[in-house]
Amino acid sequence: MRKLIIANWKMNPDSPGRALRLARFEDKKGVVIAPPFPFLGAVGAVLRRAKLGAQDAFWLPKGAHTGEVSVHQLRHLRVAYVILGHSERRALGESDVMVNQKVKATLAEGLTPILCVGEPWSVRKKGIPAAKRFVKNQLQKDLENCKLRIENLIIAYEPVWAIGTGRADKPSDTVEMVKFVKNLLTTHYSLLTPRVLYGGSVTAKNAAAFLNRPEIDGALVGGASLKPGEFKKIVELASL
Ligand code: PGA
Repeated sequence: MRKLIIANWKMNPDSPGRALRLARFEDKKGVVIAPPFPFLGAVGAVLRRAKLGAQDAFWLPKGAHTGEVSVHQLRHLRVAYVILGHSERRALGESDVMVNQKVKATLAEGLTPILCVGEPWSVRKKGIPAAKRFVKNQLQKDLENCKLRIENLIIAYEPVWAIGTGRADKPSDTVEMVKFVKNLLTTHYSLLTPRVLYGGSVTAKNAAAFLNRPEIDGALVGGASLKPGEFKKIVELASL
């Protein structure tokens, strides 16, 4: 299966004009562009090959929830993917219970959740078995009572200590974590072909080391997705 590259722009860029320029440049097959909410409509309107993603969503369809955006509303903007449980949101207090409700709401609307899981350094420094226990626990809570359909869930394995630090995981360790996650998904959730991406300081320089591995189904790219030349190289490496 083709590798998927997610451009997580986070709270960037700072104007609609810049967002549109970046979107046109990154509009490639196999790419999902996740701009901030205010730019979703404009970016979605110019994409021809890439798909549109959101960086979060609320679990209820409508009502008195100041500041929230529902999956249902996102669907009207032709959003196909929703990043959920990103560590930057978890750091602000988002719990596994909340992530679980968001995953369920996203699946119910027929959109594809990109569920982010990953351990902090305090766990990883104890070794890979500790990281596996941490990620297993997150997955069990985040996917509790989810009715999964085969193609509609993507996991992004993102060790928290690798995000935005310039200190990417060792690809052989990533492969071990990805295999572990895939095994969990096939045995406990009957997913036939689980897709698991890597995220955390992916750059044009290190992308090949992850994307060349058949077990890793793509990359979630933060910082490098704001640099058009760099991102282009990552996408090229993904389609080799
Ligand atoms: P980064 O971000 O590529 O800047 O480390 C990745 C992410 O937050 O998903």
